[in-house]
Amino acid sequence: MADDYRDLAADYDWLFDDEVLTGGFAINQPAVAGLLQQVGPGRAVLDAACGTGVDAAALARRGFHVRAADGSDAMVQAAAARFRREGLAISVQQCLWADLPDTIDERFDVVLCTGNALVHAAGRDAMVQALTGLRRMACAGGHVVIHSRNWEKLHAERRIVQVANRVRTRGGRRCVMLYAWEVPDRLDQEHIAISCSSSRTATGSSRTSTGSRSFPLPSATCANGSSSRDCGKSAPTSARPQTNTS
Ligand SMILES: C[S@@+](CC[C@H](N)C(=O)[O-])C[C@H]1O[C@@H](n2cnc3c(N)ncnc32)[C@H](O)[C@@H]1O
Repeated sequence: MADDYRDLAADYDWLFDDEVLTGGFAINQPAVAGLLQQVGPGRAVLDAACGTGVDAAALARRGFHVRAADGSDAMVQAAAARFRREGLAISVQQCLWADLPDTIDERFDVVLCTGNALVHAAGRDAMVQALTGLRRMACAGGHVVIHSRNWEKLHAERRIVQVANRVRTRGGRRCVMLYAWEVPDRLDQEHIAISCSSSRTATGSSRTSTGSRSFPLPSATCANGSSSRDCGKSAPTSARPQTNTS
């Protein structure tokens, strides 16, 4: 698989507020939080789209037995670095959803595929294979959590560009995030999501990182026979982002 996140991985954490980096993101959404509370700490959780490991790390700190995987080698490297930095013993590996059952022997009480990741399985067959792989990682009576955007709502609203309302400062670097989407007329047309972080240190060294992903939604996933896919946390957009250093 081409690594769509190769260039974005190093700057992906800029998408998150500081409290998300320590407390987790998807695991705090009401439905997921309720499920995790119900199964209770100590149970086995697989974060199958772990990204940079934000949710996996937060779960481990809460006492869950966590394992992490992701299809992107760059994201896996970023997650592994987080776990090392935070002294967390979380096993993480590069693995596509469809390949999980043949790669990892363990089965889990909860399998997570969050951050609207599933839409990366492009086309109906890929999505069925991904869902089958994820389902087979759950133990008997286990749960699979799939987080997906409401694509119809998204298209109806046609929100196109999101610009962070404040500059984030971390490690001596100040950054502003732009998140932009090209939302076509129909869901089955190609969507392009672009996230762009532009950061600068006090001494003036600057870096701009842009990640873009394009994806038609498989028609089977959309009520209107439409399609799309997403990376990110917030509302979409349609024009290309302007780069803005501050
Ligand atoms: C939008 S990110 C979400 C990451 C994380 N869950 C979060 O909320 O920040 C989507 C993730 O899905 C991963 N991914 C995409 N296709 C995949 C596949 N076929 N198998 C496993 N992971 C995949 C990407 O590498 C990326 O890290």
